[in-house]
Amino acid sequence: MRFDILTLFPDFFTSPLAQSITGRAIERGLIEVRLCNIRDYTTDRHRTADDSPYGGGAGMVMKVDPVVRALKDIRGAGDGPAEKTGSAEGASVRRSKVLLATPQGVPFTHELAVELSALDDITIVCGRYEGVDERIRRYVDLEVSVGDYVLTGGEIPALVIIDAVSRFIPGVLGHEASPLNETFSEGLLEYPQYTRPEEFDGVKVPEVLLSGNHAEIGRWRRAQSLLRTKRKRPDLFEKLELTDADKKLIEGLKARQ
Ligand code: ADE
Repeated sequence: MRFDILTLFPDFFTSPLAQSITGRAIERGLIEVRLCNIRDYTTDRHRTADDSPYGGGAGMVMKVDPVVRALKDIRGAGDGPAEKTGSAEGASVRRSKVLLATPQGVPFTHELAVELSALDDITIVCGRYEGVDERIRRYVDLEVSVGDYVLTGGEIPALVIIDAVSRFIPGVLGHEASPLNETFSEGLLEYPQYTRPEEFDGVKVPEVLLSGNHAEIGRWRRAQSLLRTKRKRPDLFEKLELTDADKKLIEGLKARQ
């Protein structure tokens, strides 16, 4: 999987991407992140990448032409909007998408991260908080928001997207089962986890986890996931399609309350 990041602040990415799981994934060639400085695609001697808005008003607007020149350079796109179905590279067709990080986008969710992880190339245009020239949107396949708040730019959202998507690329986490057995997969929050010591500050690890009875542990974890989701995220709980076994677990929990 290749990520191309169009940004005015390429240095922003260097340290976060070099750490931990992402750093190892890059070292092992499982993901590649190319940083593209939008300023390198400006044509004036001041390297102007933003300008004041037509019609007046405060703040600056990211210019369309450097962004589109950068996109064409990276993706070999034609004159028009971004290729919607991928581009031919040799004999194989690479599946690719151009994303724009913006608070106006579709919410970035677990499902979207899984969907994007099936692509070969993801290009992320990092907008600035005051806005981008509306015409940039023609060259974008999907506008993505990481939450209903405004950040100073698309750089942190781009890091969020790279991180969350990379976790679904085989080999990145090292142990394949884990991303599908965690919070948000199946629309559930994850069950409580414990590690040594067995007792801390008077709080003991639940007995069942020490029992070695894996069927029992599995039921307990499922029940805890259901309970947590119901309490902490009733919006997710309402969308669940509960199995008969789940309903029994919930009844069992209610009986014990
Ligand atoms: N740029 C600024 N705020 C953002 C947000 N919430 N999501 C994505 N991109 C952004």
